Amino acid sequence: MTIPRIIKKGEFAHKDLVSMEQLTEKEIYLILDKARMFKEISLRNIKKVPALKGKTVVNLFFEPSTRTRTSFEIAAKRLSADIVNITSSASAVVKGETLLDTAQTLMAMKPDFMIIRHSFSGSALYLSKIVSASVLNAGDGLHEHPTQALLDMYTMKEYKNRLEGLKVAIVGDIAHSRVARSNIIGLNKVKADVMLVGPKTLIPTGIEKMNVKVSHDLKEAVSWADVVMMLRIQLERLTEGLFPTIREYSMLYGLNKEILKNLRKDAIIMHPGPINRNVEISPDVVNDKRCVILNQVENGVAVRMAVLFLLRGAEKVSIEQ
Ligand code: CP
Repeated sequence: MTIPRIIKKGEFAHKDLVSMEQLTEKEIYLILDKARMFKEISLRNIKKVPALKGKTVVNLFFEPSTRTRTSFEIAAKRLSADIVNITSSASAVVKGETLLDTAQTLMAMKPDFMIIRHSFSGSALYLSKIVSASVLNAGDGLHEHPTQALLDMYTMKEYKNRLEGLKVAIVGDIAHSRVARSNIIGLNKVKADVMLVGPKTLIPTGIEKMNVKVSHDLKEAVSWADVVMMLRIQLERLTEGLFPTIREYSMLYGLNKEILKNLRKDAIIMHPGPINRNVEISPDVVNDKRCVILNQVENGVAVRMAVLFLLRGAEKVSIEQ
């Protein structure tokens, strides 16, 4: 089944959000501006607006998640949408149903949005081509996690008042990180300066073509940065021994109290979560006042409200034959 080509008009002319690639710099700032408004709503006593009343959201998670799944659910509820959560373990997927059949089955119930997390890179794009609902990518394999990058950029702007020219060091398992990839694409669009840091085996060869610096020296990167973004080692995606031991990795690329002495007072420390304490980040770094991990989580709700609001579901579109 293919759906007609859908052309949305207006300030945010997209049916879906599957990749940071599809957004212009102006659209990124539009999302961040709207998120600021929705963050203010989240601080009120009554945290609800009627913007998506009558809309239905399906949260389709084929991989585990705490932050993304919950914040999409809270975001949808704060916009007055109805939301249904589906996890692969509790769905007909365990009986062998394909993504295509799952999507068509769910579409028969007329949802306006489908949020998908899946281990297959390209799954969100695939879904967006077979359903008329707005599709939001909540992480597809090694490919992208666009709302994570947007909430990260929102947090950077909130603390540093700018994105252009900001020095962002992304540290760790770059090769297996959809968060790194979405951040690199988004930060490039807003003209931030990105440095990737980690062992050679975890940084793809030729990645400099994405307009990034590469360093294998954490101390050097931490001294340079306005923002240090630590990444988790994606043990579930590692297929071979890419570093000798976790202990050795941690000694060279873990952010600890000693390395932190090189970080400027006004710099911030970020992590998309979940964190592995004493692997990429030590407990005293998590407690450092420059560490904004929980602020990232808070901002995730506002940013996801903004994206749902701007997409508005597939209903308000003109269909070009
Ligand atoms: N950052 C992130 O995607 O976290 P979850 O896996 O908990 O959603």
